[in-house]
Amino acid sequence: MLDKAAKAEDNGPSGIGAIGVIGLGYVGLPFAMAFVRRGFSVIGIDVDTRKLEMLKSGKSYVRDVADAEIANALAAGKLAVSSRFSLLTEASSIVICVPTPLTAEQAPDLSFLTNACRQLEPHLQQGQLVIIESTTYPGTTREVVQPLLELGGLRAGESFYLAYSPERIDPGNTDTPVEDVPKVVSGLTALCLKRVVSLYSTVFSQVVPVSSTDTAEAAKLLENSFRLVNISFINEFAKLCDQLHLDIWEVIRAAGTKPYGFMSFHPGPGIGGHCIPVDPLYMQWKARGAGTESRFIELSRDMNESIPSYIVSRVEQLLLPERALAGSNILICGVTYKRDVADLRESSALLLMELLHLAGVAVAYYDPYIPTVRIGQASWNSIALTDAAIAAADCVLIHTDHAALPIGQIMEHAAAIYDTRNVTRGRSSRGKLARLGDGSQL
Ligand SMILES: NC(=O)c1ccc[n+]([C@@H]2O[C@H](COP(=O)([O-])OP(=O)(O)OC[C@H]3O[C@@H](n4cnc5c(N)ncnc54)[C@H](O)[C@@H]3O)[C@@H](O)[C@H]2O)c1
Repeated sequence: MLDKAAKAEDNGPSGIGAIGVIGLGYVGLPFAMAFVRRGFSVIGIDVDTRKLEMLKSGKSYVRDVADAEIANALAAGKLAVSSRFSLLTEASSIVICVPTPLTAEQAPDLSFLTNACRQLEPHLQQGQLVIIESTTYPGTTREVVQPLLELGGLRAGESFYLAYSPERIDPGNTDTPVEDVPKVVSGLTALCLKRVVSLYSTVFSQVVPVSSTDTAEAAKLLENSFRLVNISFINEFAKLCDQLHLDIWEVIRAAGTKPYGFMSFHPGPGIGGHCIPVDPLYMQWKARGAGTESRFIELSRDMNESIPSYIVSRVEQLLLPERALAGSNILICGVTYKRDVADLRESSALLLMELLHLAGVAVAYYDPYIPTVRIGQASWNSIALTDAAIAAADCVLIHTDHAALPIGQIMEHAAAIYDTRNVTRGRSSRGKLARLGDGSQL
């Protein structure tokens, strides 16, 4: 429960009231703390008791949120965390930030969202504003969320307010605070839109209203489909450069000097994360339901999925003639989907490790953020990155360019390096070296 002192103040900075946040993960926790920073009281709800226990003891599991921030918010009575949805009766607005993954059949899995709505509905109060932040296909707020929240008789747009605002948080990005990222907002009705604009204007420096929840849902899918298509295209271009013995990194640097009409994307082992490989498939699923589809999304997904096996074939060539792939020792540096996050979801390292393992390679890995990786029956623990461990590998495969990765040490001791992130550029190495798309003749 919010303590008394907090309740006395929980009108927030503009008399708007306490904020409920359902789902305290990579999105929900930083989001909750952005409201706390603006002076709101926040009621955070999650079903994961392990996360709740950590938060209650003042510990953060999201790298972008400091322990002290949690501890101070709890001590000041500005943050309450619980699994009890009944606490949300005290909130004026409730933001839903639960996962929206894919099913085994690659279709949208809205079970977390529908469960959250079902759990919220019995506690929904007259006048409350509910905002969906989870990424989803156009139509979800109207077709899925609204009927669930209306089961008890309240009507969206009349007795409570319903809005959709796509989340654009960029985990690991410490340059842009969440408050400074423009926030696209939409409402089921004009009044719903007015409510969400009024609330978000108190926290975000720019609020961008659009005409419908479907438009806001589609805007997020366009952003992430755009990244999927462009990263997949640059990965294909990297393969072309390898064949033509051109260095893609230099090609991109040159093209990037054009002051208009060009945007640099960089090759890499995968696209990874909870969003970029997943969200475009939500659009594809919705499009198929309407009897059409995106060929770009399909092609990009195929290209993206082919990169780990391409990397394995390049590593195999790099090892020859001294060593065959089977029986070699390969040390993977960095396994998360991107630098400086502790998130392994959809990481291409998982497929890479599996492919190497199946090819008879003795795989080891180092990642300061991930102590253990399990794939099926196999499991690995992150090793200490000593000079001896680096030297013992037949090849060091740089998968994720964490800021803390000791590139100099790797260059000094590795017999061979395959660098998928271009972090070895301009450095000389003791052993063999190739970078993804650098055109090396292997
Ligand atoms: N992670 C990102 O970079 C990012 C960026 C933009 C948008 N998104 C979108 O935001 C949404 C959330 O993603 P995330 O990365 O924060 O996921 P996450 O898995 O890190 O966090 C989701 C949290 O929701 C909780 N949860 C699940 N079901 C619940 C329920 N019924 N009631 C209460 N809590 C519940 C989980 O326990 C978890 O703590 C997704 O739709 C995702 O696509 C994510």
